[in-house]
Amino acid sequence: MDKPVYVHRVRYNFSISKLVFWSLIFLGLIVLFFFRSPSSISSSRRVLQSGPDWEKLVRKSASTRSPSRGVRVLVTGAAGFVGTHVSIALKRRGDGVVGIDNFNKYYDASLKRARQDLLKESGVFVVEGDINNAVLMGKLFELVRFTHVMHLAAQAGVRYAMENPSSYVHSNIAGLVNVFEVCKSANPQPAIVWASSSSVYGLNRKVPFSEKDRTDQPASLYAATKKAGEEIAHTYNHIYGLSITGLRFFTVYGPWGRPDMAYFFFTKDILKGKTIPIFEGPKHSSVARDFTYIDDIVKGCLGALDTAGKSTGTGGKKKGSAQLRVFNLGNTSPVPVSKLVNILEKLLKVKAKKVKLPMPTNGDVLFTHANISLAKRELGYKPTTDLQTGLKKFVSWYMDYYSLPRGKSAR
Ligand SMILES: NC(=O)c1ccc[n+]([C@@H]2O[C@H](COP(=O)([O-])OP(=O)(O)OC[C@H]3O[C@@H](n4cnc5c(N)ncnc54)[C@H](O)[C@@H]3O)[C@@H](O)[C@H]2O)c1
Repeated sequence: MDKPVYVHRVRYNFSISKLVFWSLIFLGLIVLFFFRSPSSISSSRRVLQSGPDWEKLVRKSASTRSPSRGVRVLVTGAAGFVGTHVSIALKRRGDGVVGIDNFNKYYDASLKRARQDLLKESGVFVVEGDINNAVLMGKLFELVRFTHVMHLAAQAGVRYAMENPSSYVHSNIAGLVNVFEVCKSANPQPAIVWASSSSVYGLNRKVPFSEKDRTDQPASLYAATKKAGEEIAHTYNHIYGLSITGLRFFTVYGPWGRPDMAYFFFTKDILKGKTIPIFEGPKHSSVARDFTYIDDIVKGCLGALDTAGKSTGTGGKKKGSAQLRVFNLGNTSPVPVSKLVNILEKLLKVKAKKVKLPMPTNGDVLFTHANISLAKRELGYKPTTDLQTGLKKFVSWYMDYYSLPRGKSAR
């Protein structure tokens, strides 16, 4: 028997609405996928990294206070500890400054974002990108005739190399080469000042460490990449006439510092009541560091930028010999780590729980001590902050930044 017409109509209407329903679900899923997929996230970032508004931000950040000043610096690793302080100091004295940073998660990225906010308040725009991105770096040089590059972006830290060795190769070797490549092709070529490290002295036992001492016994992959960087710098200076100054920083500390460094995590752990390890050398000898306050390091960086000779090449061709320098930037007074802890205990008004342990042989050296005569003579470098004074400023910043009540353990 034939089914009544209305039954067909009901079935027909039902299938249409079902089709519409599932099509909508399907469309919704596509839209969701498009907006959430990593490629769409990176492409939306890419949009942010170009276009007239972005270019305006870059140009504005690069503008100098007075047209006659003419110093425009690209600071790599600008959202890092040293990069933030150097960028602010340059901007404050009237230089044009553009930052670049990839905001990686080696340590708490929210601290890098907070530094970015600080930089924004000072008029410094930080481009979000990797120094290995040749197109982005080239674009920045197209927009701005940088006179100098302050290259601070790197994978820092000694022990993390056991966990993620390739990050050191990516940033400290490949990244450095890309920075030099972009600088060599720029017209005019900028002068480059970059951060090497005291760690290049490795197993050197002669103290204080002088720039003439041997640096062929690195004790960590980090140190080896910095040493390689110094050799790569020689090559780019020799072939392309780039003016390059390497700065060997000695354990930099201070406000807005790095959470992976001992003075920073000791502070955190002492306040939390956690036991902190104090490493010892052979026969219970103490481990010591030439702790250098950030403001002194900033003065050294500015001194290096101000005395840097011009690069001599154009369009990738050398026209004459150019400056190639290396300087120690330290404090010249090493302090045992146990004394650092004593100072922190007094400043925090909390007794630390300590345990003495033999120093692991996974990258750290027993002591560092800088001879700074060369930097004194050539850069006018003269550190003025002792550890007690510098740590007081650090602790004050720490309590404010983490909104902690003074003189009480709270975290
Ligand atoms: N702080 C010290 O005690 C010390 C000592 C010796 C040498 N250094 C060197 O000084 C420089 C600055 O150190 P810091 O203490 O400010 O470290 P930091 O980690 O705070 O700063 C480095 C910044 O570079 C960025 N970065 C890393 N790889 C990048 C990449 N491929 N592209 C773009 N950005 C990248 C990071 O996100 C970070 O913000 C580094 O080269 C470091 O090796 C520091």
